[in-house]
Amino acid sequence: MRFNLTQKLIFFVLAGLFFACSQPQEIVFQQSNLEEYRPVYHFTPAKGWMNDPNGMIYIDGEYHLFYQYYPDSTVWGPMHWGHAKSTNLIDWEELPIALYPDSLGYIFSGSAVYDQENSSGLGPKENPPLVAIFSYHNMEGERSGKTDYQSQGIAFSLDKGNTWEKYSGNPVLPNQGIKDFRDPKVRKIKNSNGKEVWMMTLAVLDQIQFYQSDNLIDWKLAGEFGKGIGAHGGVWECPDLIPMNAPNGETKWILLVSINPGGPQKGSATQYFIGDFNDGQFEPDDTMIRWLDYGPDNYAGVTWSNLPSSQNRNLFIGWMSNWLYAQMVPTSSWRSAMTIARELSLFEIDGTLLVKSSPAKELEVNRGEVFEISGKSSNLPGASFELKAEVENDFSLIFSNELGEKVTITREMGLINIDRSKSGRSEFHPDFAAVHSAPMSWEAKSIRIFMDASSIELFVNDGEIVLTSLLFPSSPYKTVELISGVNDAELIRLKK
Ligand code: FRU
Repeated sequence: MRFNLTQKLIFFVLAGLFFACSQPQEIVFQQSNLEEYRPVYHFTPAKGWMNDPNGMIYIDGEYHLFYQYYPDSTVWGPMHWGHAKSTNLIDWEELPIALYPDSLGYIFSGSAVYDQENSSGLGPKENPPLVAIFSYHNMEGERSGKTDYQSQGIAFSLDKGNTWEKYSGNPVLPNQGIKDFRDPKVRKIKNSNGKEVWMMTLAVLDQIQFYQSDNLIDWKLAGEFGKGIGAHGGVWECPDLIPMNAPNGETKWILLVSINPGGPQKGSATQYFIGDFNDGQFEPDDTMIRWLDYGPDNYAGVTWSNLPSSQNRNLFIGWMSNWLYAQMVPTSSWRSAMTIARELSLFEIDGTLLVKSSPAKELEVNRGEVFEISGKSSNLPGASFELKAEVENDFSLIFSNELGEKVTITREMGLINIDRSKSGRSEFHPDFAAVHSAPMSWEAKSIRIFMDASSIELFVNDGEIVLTSLLFPSSPYKTVELISGVNDAELIRLKK
């Protein structure tokens, strides 16, 4: 067949167009492959160092996430509040830095609330402010051997959290000479006389103090908790006080307290207390030590504020690392990811109340292809997926790559274990290659495993027991082997 000049031209233009259109896809694919260990559906900053989640607040359909951030290095340094937002808790848009260090100090962890009644007077009544409450950490003070270098400051936003201005009268809660005095988490609560007040939960050395305020500016001590109860192997940090419905309909108060070191797997972890809270007094139900997550890599997590009551959930996110080795893990241009978002609720087992952490519902919506696993061994659909299965009480499965690196998950003798001792790179810290176990005296029925390039999150019975663990395989795991007790398994590619 012969073509005239016009036909030839049309052919080249169409071919060129086709090539141009297919090009970006190629590039995107290659880019996401370039950065080893970069997760796909967990939040990571594009570059720099990140630790604790801060100031999480929901406003007008958007979930705002602030975080401890040092943009100039991949190790901890002068702390800023980085900022990202999402409408589905999976796709995050990184925004300009929200809070910069100033003459009072670095900006440490804290929270944010919607001051709907404009109690602070920081906004006009028609446009009430969001108020962020954070800790200042004065480095010069610390270096010169003082003990009063941490204090609480506030900032406000009149444009739905996009930009923030610091309050000119900072600090609002100065220090009285206590070295560790930080991480304010504020919520509005009703006192026993029916009056609504702002209640701040603050970590002070290895205990908690509660401060009360009518206007987010003037604070007075209302109560203390923690002496002689709970785990005290390290300093207490990043608390959160959350009312939750118990299965019998009663309201219980859950006090989350992160501790570093002194966690069950060495280094950092989050314990919690269950009790009653009245007028600044927390009364625990018992003296049992409870852990929110038995894996080594979920720290400093707290819950979102200002969720509409129609959502009826306590939405949580944690920092997916451990101070033991967080600054040494082998990622390149950035360090650390957040956990997936989780919903915290109470359940009862053998007469004991415990908190369960279930994967947020959003993870069930935003999904790609589903692959049934037939047979004992299956190829994995990439490095980022969910594996969902029914399990018998004792079960075991292995993810592995062609180099013989593997991570093994088992349930035996009442313990759920994740063995990452041969999972890949671990030379950066002697405690990384280890087996982590959680006691589970009751029956295991189902599992959900979220893997995302360099992490695994295991939820047994929809989060009755959770283990979160980082992993750094030299090459992505290619295969899953269902060794025993795993039925009806499905692999789901996450993110379409
Ligand atoms: C917890 C923590 C907080 C502090 C912040 C500093 O990981 O130590 O207590 O506010 O990190 O970055």
